[in-house]
Amino acid sequence: NYYAIIMAGGIGSRFWPISRTSHPKQFIDILGTGKTLIQQTYDRFLKVCPKENIFVVTNEIYTGLVNEQLPDMAANQILTEPVMRNTAPCVAYGCFKIQSINPDAAIVVAPSDHLILDEPGFVATIEKSLATATQHQCLVTLGIKPSRPDTGYGYIQYTDNIIDGDFHKVKTFTEKPTLEIAKTFIQSGDFLWNAGIFVWSAAAIVKAFEQHLPDMNEIFADARPHYNTENEKAHVNQAFLQCTNISIDYGIMEKADNVYVLPSEFGWSDLGTWASIYELADKDYVGNAVIPSEKVIMYDSSNCMVNVPEDKLVILQGLHDFIVVESNNTLLICPRDQEQNVKKVVGDVKARF
Ligand code: GDD
Ligand code: MG
Repeated sequence: NYYAIIMAGGIGSRFWPISRTSHPKQFIDILGTGKTLIQQTYDRFLKVCPKENIFVVTNEIYTGLVNEQLPDMAANQILTEPVMRNTAPCVAYGCFKIQSINPDAAIVVAPSDHLILDEPGFVATIEKSLATATQHQCLVTLGIKPSRPDTGYGYIQYTDNIIDGDFHKVKTFTEKPTLEIAKTFIQSGDFLWNAGIFVWSAAAIVKAFEQHLPDMNEIFADARPHYNTENEKAHVNQAFLQCTNISIDYGIMEKADNVYVLPSEFGWSDLGTWASIYELADKDYVGNAVIPSEKVIMYDSSNCMVNVPEDKLVILQGLHDFIVVESNNTLLICPRDQEQNVKKVVGDVKARF
């Protein structure tokens, strides 16, 4: 009864120019491991459930990339969206469809663009969560011990009300707080970051949509007779056009009251910044992380993060603490401590070119 949904329709705008609308982060081998992030995600879930129970939900413009990178997936396992409406409709589509295949399904929903270093630990955590979510019909989310007041995460305040040994009842869920609020959360000590990995029964998440996003519930419930028929795509495309743009975090997790968090540790990173990638990448003895490394030559350079096309000959002389990234004929050179400014620039650049 175990199923997995891989959310793969985001555009990963932070990693420009490597990650672009036409080729977002989940489809990139960002750490130079030989596998893209979505391939790694798929491989992890093969250890949790049979391959025919794994679904990818993505924008239709990425269907080609998914087919290419996950050739084992059958066409009916790749669910496509005609428009980008964030993760709530993506989750609704995947979960409503799986429920119509198997009403007793328990589902893990996960991002496609995260890194998980401890795979056995991850698999054990997911299996435990699937069992608890089934038994208690609750919504389970995985929590990560926070290390800084990052405003890009959801924050989970947990209580000492515990079920099945480790699952803490959630008191509040705050998606992407302001810096000021994030700081108070970190100081208080009883908060975890939301890893963005959710586990629930199909029945429990459908009920949560009924309660908290009734319009969206109606839209995807109306499409029910058409799931797994030849009319599915036409009806679902119509459904998406009617959906508001909202994430599962704002739409459901902040509002639901039967949420439990499992504090987790499995070498998780959402690879949200070049700094986080730099931290995880293999580095030489002077701190340079180079992906891929064959044709990059460094003289008197240190602590640089270099990510360039394989066939590119790159020479760095006397460069320290820089990000050097090239993709799609676009080159970005930026001091490592100024990457947060790149996002602003990207909007500007996109408008002009
Ligand atoms: N199918 C589909 N459609 N997938 C989408 C869409 C969409 O419109 N938008 C985003 N996704 C996918 C992304 O590709 C990614 O794999 C996943 O859904 C999460 O979306 P993000 O856009 O990366 O979310 P976030 O990083 O801002 O926030 C989420 O993750 C954080 C942890 O990394 C939230 O769950 C936070 O609470 C959490 O802390
Ligand atoms: Mg993310």
